[in-house]
Amino acid sequence: MSYEKLQVLEDTGFVLLRDFEPGVAPAEWESMEYMDWKSGGDTNFAPIASAYGEMECHGFWDHGKPDKDGIWTSNAAKCPTLVKWVEDIGVRYGRVRTIKLEPNTYEEALRNLHLDDNNRLNPDGEGWVVRSWLQLTDDPDSFMVVREDKDDPSTESHIPLPAMSQFVVDTERLWHAVCHRGTKPRYALITSFESGPALDKWISEQLP
Ligand SMILES: [Fe+2]
Repeated sequence: MSYEKLQVLEDTGFVLLRDFEPGVAPAEWESMEYMDWKSGGDTNFAPIASAYGEMECHGFWDHGKPDKDGIWTSNAAKCPTLVKWVEDIGVRYGRVRTIKLEPNTYEEALRNLHLDDNNRLNPDGEGWVVRSWLQLTDDPDSFMVVREDKDDPSTESHIPLPAMSQFVVDTERLWHAVCHRGTKPRYALITSFESGPALDKWISEQLP
């Protein structure tokens, strides 16, 4: 299979962007309905766009479609800024959800390292699906661990997680998990985006 990929991700598999300036009111992520769904630690997720708009967290492939063309759920009405953030980017999106992650340790984060399965059912020749993050809570002592090789610490990088930081990760290429050192849950918006000229343009506009 051959997919369109972004040059900006070629070297490291991730790119840090500048902070989202307007900010987001905590009520948007705190008022949503969360589901018990474990991925990368002690987590709950609030689906904002799912495969067919239902309140569920399953991969789109479980419904026979690639992780593209997400449909807004009932949570979307509670987070207008997050919905606008996704739509303003102007890129074909799949799953959109907030993650709620309980505090953990670096050792636990290493045990949670995993690859995502973003491109199952992605048709040959289309854009490679990557994931973007908009960090919601201010967790400057926490970080996402990414590794090119799961078992090689020399391939490790840390992505800091202050409030409103934005970054894009090829999570089917890089092993990843968050070390969250706070005392309260960490929240972030995670969106699957299709690689292509539109995503490339947005990233170039958002570079620090
Ligand atoms: Fe993941």
